Amino acid sequence: MTKAAHILLLADLHCGSVFGTWVPGFQHSDGEHKLTGFQQWLYQNFNSMVGALPKLDGVVCNGDTIDGKNPYSGGRYCITPEPADQAAAAIELLKPLRKKTKWMRLVDGTDCHDDTAGGALDVIGAELKCDKWAPGNHYSAQVLSFDWRGKVFNIQHHTGNGLLYISGEISKKHMMASIAESDNNLPRADLIATAHIHSASGGWSGGGRYVVVQPCWAGPTNHAIKVMGVQRAYALLTVGAVLVTVDDLGMAVKLIRYPLPPLSVEKIE
Ligand SMILES: [Fe+2]
Ligand SMILES: [Fe+2]
Repeated sequence: MTKAAHILLLADLHCGSVFGTWVPGFQHSDGEHKLTGFQQWLYQNFNSMVGALPKLDGVVCNGDTIDGKNPYSGGRYCITPEPADQAAAAIELLKPLRKKTKWMRLVDGTDCHDDTAGGALDVIGAELKCDKWAPGNHYSAQVLSFDWRGKVFNIQHHTGNGLLYISGEISKKHMMASIAESDNNLPRADLIATAHIHSASGGWSGGGRYVVVQPCWAGPTNHAIKVMGVQRAYALLTVGAVLVTVDDLGMAVKLIRYPLPPLSVEKIE
């Protein structure tokens, strides 16, 4: 049997948001940010995941790697609005993971987060020696498609609508993929991954295709709570990553998940 090989799918680190990942002690141009309790929890779990992972062939960071200027809340929840600082923190966070993988690739996230026009992802890509796969000599674009060990992957940040009824979105994606591939020559994908909604889901088709929506590395944001309500924002949040393994028996898709820590309730005397 040939040795099992692995790819890690990461998304939505949101480095630069007080709800996202950040490295303790990291010096940015305005000083040092003291991590919230939730950010410490995120960082510890991220590191323990990196430590527990096997040697990887590849890592894909599927968008919202940085948080940008936090426009939904007028910048109130930025650690720093500087894309260069946020990119530097993301680089620091991802360095240990980069050491475990042969290659790393970046995908564009939501425009307002990933500073798509400003080139922050290109800075991260260059520093971490990622693959320069995108058109125009860039490190990232909307859709990453590749064949790895006989399986074709199609990876994009945006999921589309669905949210609570995400299983419907998974079935729709299976159906749309079949139509797009047979009618309009989109390359047949064995694995389709999207992110953006910070909530994990997935499912096989009878034909052996897997559609996965990736978990995130961020907490429930004020914006999410405003849009969805606090119960739904907590119910649908998944922190973690997706590990894809290919061996002679086929493809396995594992959800790595960290249930949120208990929240303390303020007592008023
Ligand atoms: Fe996101
Ligand atoms: Fe997004």
